[in-house]
Amino acid sequence: MAGQANGTAVKAGVNGRAYAIVDHTYDVVVVGAGGAGLRATLGCAEAGLRTACVTKVFPTRSHTVAAQGGIAASLANMGPDNWRWHMYDTVKGADWLGDQDAIEYLCRNAPEAVYELDHYGVPFSRTEDGKIYQRPFGGHYTEYGEGPPVQRTCAAADRTGHAMLHTLYGQSLRHSAEFFIEYFALDLIMDDEGACRGVIAMNMEDGSIHRFRSKRTILATGGYGRAYFSATSAHTCTGDGNAMVLRAGLPLQDMEFVQFHPTGIYGAGVLITEGARGEGGYLTNAKGERFMERYAPHAKDLASRDVVSRSMTIEIREGRGVGPDGDHMFLHLDHLDPNILAERLPGITESAKIFAGVDLRRQPIPVIPTVHYNMGGIPTNYDGEVLTLKGGNPDTVVPGLMAIGEAACVSVHGANRLGSNSLIDLVVFGRAAGLRCSDTVERRAAQPELAQDATEKALDRLDRFRHASGSTPTAALRLRMQKTMQANCAVFRDGPVLDEGVRKIADVWKGVDDIRVTDRSLVWNSDLVETLEFDNLIAQAAVTVGGAANRKESRGAHAREDYPKRDDVAWMKHTLAFADTATREVRLDSRPVHTRTLTNEIKYIEPKARVY
Ligand code: FUM
Repeated sequence: MAGQANGTAVKAGVNGRAYAIVDHTYDVVVVGAGGAGLRATLGCAEAGLRTACVTKVFPTRSHTVAAQGGIAASLANMGPDNWRWHMYDTVKGADWLGDQDAIEYLCRNAPEAVYELDHYGVPFSRTEDGKIYQRPFGGHYTEYGEGPPVQRTCAAADRTGHAMLHTLYGQSLRHSAEFFIEYFALDLIMDDEGACRGVIAMNMEDGSIHRFRSKRTILATGGYGRAYFSATSAHTCTGDGNAMVLRAGLPLQDMEFVQFHPTGIYGAGVLITEGARGEGGYLTNAKGERFMERYAPHAKDLASRDVVSRSMTIEIREGRGVGPDGDHMFLHLDHLDPNILAERLPGITESAKIFAGVDLRRQPIPVIPTVHYNMGGIPTNYDGEVLTLKGGNPDTVVPGLMAIGEAACVSVHGANRLGSNSLIDLVVFGRAAGLRCSDTVERRAAQPELAQDATEKALDRLDRFRHASGSTPTAALRLRMQKTMQANCAVFRDGPVLDEGVRKIADVWKGVDDIRVTDRSLVWNSDLVETLEFDNLIAQAAVTVGGAANRKESRGAHAREDYPKRDDVAWMKHTLAFADTATREVRLDSRPVHTRTLTNEIKYIEPKARVY
């Protein structure tokens, strides 16, 4: 049987392989159903584009569900604020590695994007007079960093991401977006001219293969926190889109910048929101000292995350950690009014009880810096179009391919993201991608046939892993990768440790040749899916540690003990990392940081020392 559009017919296989293949055609296919994916899906569907969203988990289970503290936008509901102050804080938080045109786009559009969410139905917490409630978060200030902290983070208690996902999913369905749920994306479909023509995915329920042909493919596949041993990220955060981009021969950007959140629950890795410190919580060491006063005299516990994580690590190293092994810190909320905990922090009250066994009305929570966010990802412009380096032009648009959310590197977070700037990134750039598709994609236009062999490579890879009969279980290799990343590419880094990390990760990658998958079936084969995810992770681990070894300066989350200073002359540039996934070699290049702003309503913010 021949394949037809939109799942109405099934092929019995390609090149004798026994996979049912179903072909689909859409104007836009979004891969991933977190905050960014759903916002783009909604925007495209609302604009009358025939839109599919392909997701490996049920949309409301996407990792955005775990986002707690809130979404930054200068609404000025709790005091003076404006987008220019937000932009200044974001540029400084990014340690001058962010592209200032994109940062201006983010901060200018943030209030409108939040009001849209409000109107779509996100149940934000409210002030006495009915406005959206906003709390303080680290690194957000008034008066271009010179004034007091600003309350800029709009919150739905401490379940903001959860509230957003439910609203955006409902709205997407209302606009007739079509969802392919529990479909695992295998690879991009690229043509001979280097344009993206869609994506190939496997329905995990029955192992059928689906080819989605589309005018635009939008990757919204999130970060890859699970390359590390301890992360606040869900186990599903394996950066599948990033890895597909590498396999397509395209670069990832600034992958060496990995954010550690200061307050993951010790031992469990579960997030305790920065909103806890925003509401008045504070950290102490084994001597009961509020040590942040020494490291960030002005901002204290609300300094930016890289600063707090480094300070905690120094305290632990110098013997002032708490607990029998002196290897973590305490976060206190026991002095706060229990009504504040019940109204504004109910989620972490529950998490502290379940995962740390503490009643935070009376006891401190044991916390430790924990991998939380990837500043790096797929390079894009602020319309969400993917960029590559071609003929010396680092801003060459890859036709047909877009990326948004944590998968993308726009780059608004540069070397370090401010708390609550992630949720706003998701909705501002999810929305931007929808607007771009609306402006540039002809609705329901005919699309050329895909070449017969367009999906062969992806099926070869699937087959190889499905029948892999080596001697190393995937879980063993994954653990080696995670432990190596945790030890060799951590909060503090230096040359020899990073070089060892490069060697060890290369060795783990070689181990893929000896991998063993025991389940050969196609129905809910989690052994196979975890292996595909591991293969995605290991390529990203390689470019991360490779980029970190290469960058010989300290900037934002990349703190090198052998190069403790930021070096704007040599290193104010983005890393571009390519990986040849056949030879397992990493190649590094660079592209300039955009020092232009979007409009002349704000001037370029000149680099200066970053103190809090
Ligand atoms: O701490 C938090 O609630 C996390 C927020 C974020 O990463 O933006």
